[in-house]
Amino acid sequence: MSPRPDRRPAPDLEFWARQAGQLHWETEWSEVLDRSDAPFVRWFTGGRLNAAYNCVDRHVEAGHGNQVAFHWEGEPGDTRTITYAELRREVCRTANALLSLGLRAGDRVAIQLPMIPEAVFAMLACARLGLPHSVVFGGFSPAALRSRIEDAGARLLITSDGQYRRGRAEPMKALTDEATAHTPGVEHVLVVRRTGTAVPWTEGRDLWWHELVDRQSMEHTPEAFDAEHPLFILYTSGTTGRPKGILHTTGGYLTQAACTHRTVFSLDPGSDVYWCTADIGWITGHTYIVYGPLANRTTSVMYEGTPNTPHEGRHFEIIERYGVSVYYTAPTLIRTFMKWGEDIPARYDLSSIRVLGSVGEPINPEAWRWYRTHLGAGRAPVVDTWWQTETGAVMIAPLPGGPPAKPGSAQTPLPGISAKVVDDRGREVGKGESGYLVLDQPWPSMLRGVWGDDDRYRETYWSRFAEHGYYFAGDGARYDDDGDIWLLGRVDDVMNVSGHRISTAEVESALVSHPTVAEAAVVGASDPTTGQAVVAFVILRGAAAGTPADEVVSALREHVAREIGPIAKPRRILVVPELPKTRSGKIMRRLLRDVAENRETGDVSTLADASVMELINAGLAAAS
Ligand code: PRX
Repeated sequence: MSPRPDRRPAPDLEFWARQAGQLHWETEWSEVLDRSDAPFVRWFTGGRLNAAYNCVDRHVEAGHGNQVAFHWEGEPGDTRTITYAELRREVCRTANALLSLGLRAGDRVAIQLPMIPEAVFAMLACARLGLPHSVVFGGFSPAALRSRIEDAGARLLITSDGQYRRGRAEPMKALTDEATAHTPGVEHVLVVRRTGTAVPWTEGRDLWWHELVDRQSMEHTPEAFDAEHPLFILYTSGTTGRPKGILHTTGGYLTQAACTHRTVFSLDPGSDVYWCTADIGWITGHTYIVYGPLANRTTSVMYEGTPNTPHEGRHFEIIERYGVSVYYTAPTLIRTFMKWGEDIPARYDLSSIRVLGSVGEPINPEAWRWYRTHLGAGRAPVVDTWWQTETGAVMIAPLPGGPPAKPGSAQTPLPGISAKVVDDRGREVGKGESGYLVLDQPWPSMLRGVWGDDDRYRETYWSRFAEHGYYFAGDGARYDDDGDIWLLGRVDDVMNVSGHRISTAEVESALVSHPTVAEAAVVGASDPTTGQAVVAFVILRGAAAGTPADEVVSALREHVAREIGPIAKPRRILVVPELPKTRSGKIMRRLLRDVAENRETGDVSTLADASVMELINAGLAAAS
């Protein structure tokens, strides 16, 4: 019997084959897309390549060794210029060091580092050896690091003695030691000396980077890996308490990272100076600081610290100093700049800026206009890029030079990408209507799964619109009258705080792990600067009832910071006698959001006990 013909709409495979062809493949692929096992897909089947070779060596071999890969600037003001030739040497030495520790293709490496060049060397050395890396944002707590190390089964952790934060040297190794005390699978901890902070040391396990890496050979011949070889795992928050390890593989990811970086910013590797302000601990840092820009032989700026250290003009000073022409940041920072005042950017020469990018959350038209006026001299295009950890690369964005941009709209799917706004039965909505954003065709940099949990992958992304075979992004969206897409924020229990994804369930489980808390419900309340702010409602256990509320609240905020990280610390914690629940016991967050945003509470008719909201409001009024 002949197999049934595949009638599913297919992406433009020729387009993607052309994009992949811009990379160096040791072995050409035999098939562009194989989705016989959907929702698990394979791109560029049979192809073999090395991601680090593509990001580094091939540019040196083509005679660009002297081009700057990174103008790096540390928070205290120290700088380092790294050419492609130097990057190649550093990546080779790091790769040789990892080999000397007995790591072999397929082993996982956890990385928790500040924004220092060694972070890039470490990621690329892993890529070079086929060691999937799991980078953990520097602000995550030891408990968060521990669960990520355990889930990925990492054999090595790469970290630093300390990190500079707002002018101070903060410990890092002392914290990662709290995690590795419980992760016997970590055989070695490789430590970069950054701040000179004293560190606890475990002989035999811990190794200094400058002792191990610096003595290695600067030569290493890369090996090609299968296009579907795992490149990295990156954990992100979902709707349950446990973060998911999003898996990305090599060929498709690198193809789309490079292609989108080139097109979205109309990048010219010979003349542009590009700066993406993200942290490498997030997907934006992976795709648009490391893999995309380097695959395109970009000259980038990399900055270690916070935007207001030592003064609020730090970013503008850096733009002026290096002649940054493409600047890519998040709306939350733009709104912070707005708060600091337009006279600050006005003091600097920002005339080098050619394109401005935005990512992480919907950008409000006011911030969009401010960004264009005060950083882009009123003329630079603003590209609002919609994508996710799971999509690996930008999916929806206006292209510079395309139709007139609309402040606040990501507008149209990029070439080779297809996205739709559908109703809850999967039917596409009309112009002027809203619904759910779905991706109706596979794309090369799509996640290949949730690490170690195939069911969760199917359930989270593919079950909502299973009969249509759509990927459910978790975002609401709207078509305008021209059919352009406007993103409306998450439709699930995921908050977006300063562009960081935090799940309500994760913060709730951190809160209830505290001995004083009986029950907790968390919502994201709109916030003019951070997009959303975490607001928690807690019911205390009887024994804690006598403790003054402000003491309980500050203990709980610290507890959440310890359990997850300071980014998840609730802005407000309200002690309440009850939580609003439906008859089936589901917390009605909508009503809590009304309270958190100081609105009249909405329809309470589906509550099991309609008087609960009165009780909550009365209690809060009495406490304030
Ligand atoms: O809700 C969308 C929002 O950020 C989510 C993805 O978060 P994360 O995986 O952490 O990746 C952030 C950086 C790519 C999305 O589901 N989001 C991201 N970019 C935009 C956005 N919402 C609106 N407009 C955007 N440009």
